[in-house]
This record gives sequence, C-alpha cells and structure tokens, in this order.
Amino acid sequence: MTAPKALVAGNWKMNGLTASIDQINRLNDLISQNGANCDVLICPPYTLINAFSKLATDHLSIGAQDCHFNISGAHTGDISAAMIKDLDARYVIVGHSERRADHAEDNETVKAKAEAAQSIGLNAIICVGETEKQRDAGQALEVVTSQVKASIPDQSVVENTLIAYEPVWAIGTGRTPTESDVEEIHNAIRQVLNGRFGENASQIKILYGGSVKASNAHALMSVPNVNGALVGGASLKADDFYGIISAYDQIG
Ligand code: 13P
Repeated sequence: MTAPKALVAGNWKMNGLTASIDQINRLNDLISQNGANCDVLICPPYTLINAFSKLATDHLSIGAQDCHFNISGAHTGDISAAMIKDLDARYVIVGHSERRADHAEDNETVKAKAEAAQSIGLNAIICVGETEKQRDAGQALEVVTSQVKASIPDQSVVENTLIAYEPVWAIGTGRTPTESDVEEIHNAIRQVLNGRFGENASQIKILYGGSVKASNAHALMSVPNVNGALVGGASLKADDFYGIISAYDQIG
C-alpha cells in the first residue's frame, strides 16, 4: 500500500491576533500560485478559528490545539470538540507536550480528549514524545510506544487518527534528532499501529515535530514513515511555512 498523502500542520500555540489573517491570505496565495504537494493545516488559537475557517480551501484546513473531554457542560473556560466542529474546523491536536506539562494531562486524559474529538467527527492528532532525560536514559522508544498505546481511543479508526512524534527536547530549541533516530521511533510507532489497526495502519499519518524549518524539512520529511510535519515557530509566517510545504515538491 502506498504511503498516505503527507500533511504539513502549523501549531500556532498562544500566538496570533486578528491581524494574523494576513498570513492565511498570504499562505493561500502561495499555495494557489505555486501549488502544494501535501495537505496543509493551520491550528490557530481558538479565538481565530472562526475567521480562519472562512478561508479554508481544498488544500488548507483549520484545526484546534486542544479540546475538553466532554462535549458540553459546566466547565468554565473550556472549549468542546463540538464547538470546534461547529466552526468548520476539521482537526484537533491532543496531548501536546506543553499541555501534558502545563496542565498535567496524562495519557488517560489525552485518550478521553481524542475520543471526544473523534466522536464528533474531528480528526485527532495525538502527540507523543520523550523528554531529554528519558532519551539520555535510553527510554525514548519505550516512553513513546507506551504513550501511543495508552492515548489512542478504543473506537478510533484509521481515517480519524494521526500521531505526532515530538521529542520534548526538540521543541523550540533548534535541535532535532538524527534522521536515524526519527526513523527508529516512527518505525516503532508504525509497529504499534499495525498491531492495533491491521494492514490499513499504513494509512495513518505519523507526523514529526520539533524545530522543523525550511532548511531541515526535506531531510526530515524524507525519512521512512514520516508522513508530514507538526510545526510551531516556523508556521507563524506564511513564507517560512511555505518553505516547509515546498519540501514536498521533491518528495514522491
Ligand atoms: P517548534 O517547531 O517551534 O519547535 O514547535 C514544535 C511544536 O511543538 C509543534 O507542535
């Protein structure tokens, strides 16, 4: 079976104001003028989803960075998957390491959030990744595979499940794992997915994230079982982000 169509996703984190819509217009211009050999996703803060969704195209989807594990209810300040879907967003990131660290989200919470997202018709991008201490202790494979196993909801299907491998120590640091380290982890994630979903598991996208930029995108995205990128800082400016998207011009 051929590899799934790649996805280059931008996670804007807590960045972006109403004026940032200029970046989406610019991104759409760049894609319509020069093309994109992959799907493209922007996950802005909640405050911008409505405005950005109106600019979604066949090439550009909009998503959210988190959701509550309940669909509605007395949860002051939280946002549900139903609310995200209501704004025509298609994806939600769950279990980002910043949420795991800042909000003490464990695998069980992440799984419940992914379940809420998928139950309402959103695609869940489930994030996993080891800390530097865990990598130094030789535990990266074990940590990541156990996060994958424990964070995927029981009723997930191939079509609504994506995994993002983001080594915590590579996020926002300018450091990246070697290509062979990325390959080792992505292969291990694929094995877990094979065990869980059978032969169609090859269609689940496994994204790499952590200091992806235009200059390293081609090398990282060419690694077997890397089906796209989850990009933080370099997704905020359309021209920088398009530099990553265009890495796929040279990748089959
Ligand atoms: P950076 O690309 O800024 O390292 O962030 C990666 C990330 O956390 C994306 O979710």
